[in-house]
Amino acid sequence: MSKNILVTGGAGFIGSHIVEEAVNRGYNTLVLDDLSTGKKENLEHLPQDSYRLIQGDIRDNNLINQVFKDNAINCVFHEAAIASVQKSITDPENTYSINVEGTRNVFEAAVDHGVERVVFASSAAVYGDDPKIPKVEDMSPKPISPYGEHKLENEKMAAKLSLKGSTKFVALRYFNVYGLRQDPASEYSGVISIFINRILSGQKITIYGDGKQTRDFVYVKDVVAANYLVAEKIARGFAIFNVGTGLQTDLNELVGIIFSLSSNVDNIKYELSRAGDIRHSLADIINLRRETGYKFDYEIKNGLSQLISHK
Ligand code: NAD
Ligand code: UD1
Repeated sequence: MSKNILVTGGAGFIGSHIVEEAVNRGYNTLVLDDLSTGKKENLEHLPQDSYRLIQGDIRDNNLINQVFKDNAINCVFHEAAIASVQKSITDPENTYSINVEGTRNVFEAAVDHGVERVVFASSAAVYGDDPKIPKVEDMSPKPISPYGEHKLENEKMAAKLSLKGSTKFVALRYFNVYGLRQDPASEYSGVISIFINRILSGQKITIYGDGKQTRDFVYVKDVVAANYLVAEKIARGFAIFNVGTGLQTDLNELVGIIFSLSSNVDNIKYELSRAGDIRHSLADIINLRRETGYKFDYEIKNGLSQLISHK
């Protein structure tokens, strides 16, 4: 694979793992991040001279073009976004400006500067609450949150741009990603990081709804593997793949596993379910497996026990 890599959102949870892999592979690695939810500390375990961090906003079109002009980037992993479905509901304008307009800047600059490939973070949220599971890539999308709509708009934008220049785009519809460095501090964070943090420190957790909603939880290392596989193996101009495990876990089961691994006593309150919340989410990963050889390494218990052992 090409060697000059740009990771937008590379100081965030998933982005920092993609950066780590790029560094391990010896690629020239550039990170662009405004450090809004990401942190420099997420990269501090890497040798200081193994990557470069530019602190900047993907909405700054001049900056983005300058970055591409100066760095002969071959491959972009675009992770920068507001990652929270809830935040997109409480703050739709700001989310739109980052998730759609910022993404447009990155995509258009990549095409204008002849970047070979852009792999970007889309989401299972594009499927919305269609009761059909598992979700297959060719189902018609029915997002029920601004966040899901924005991710769908990113995909449409990439499909169009792929016809314009030589840049190849791959949209990865991540399901629910969890792992080390997922920030537990915000109410907008992913459920696993919040639950582990609260359970390990003996605090009460809140389950929104009856806890019977299901998710396909995928460990961040498997998501990183999917990113590099598609970057290496997908040759067409535009493609979409689910990234998950094909396994379904409900929230009650999830907390049961965390309690059993942490030996803390159950301390749960149930509240009304959240607006924009999807009931069931499960990935069909056959296409990704067939076209890239993807195989996930962590089912939920392994992933959680690895994560808890790092705490
Ligand atoms: P995160 O918040 O840890 O990472 C997002 C990063 O983008 C942060 O480092 C943040 O500082 C940066 N960023 C935000 N706005 C920016 C801007 N305007 N300019 C530059 N940088 C900016 O979240 P994450 O969970 O690592 O999510 C990464 C990507 O994956 C996002 O696109 C998200 O929508 C997508 N995704 C995440 C999940 C999940 O379960 N975590 C699932 C599906 C899709
Ligand atoms: C998550 C991702 C989103 C991604 C989507 C893909 C985050 C913050 N969001 O959204 O980026 O596109 O998966 O599927 O990573 N819950 C509780 N208690 C809590 C927190 C959450 O019960 O304290 C519940 C939620 O109501 C929801 C489930 O847990 O039913 C999962 O919530 P969350 O981790 O926020 O993820 P999604 O909304 O699925």
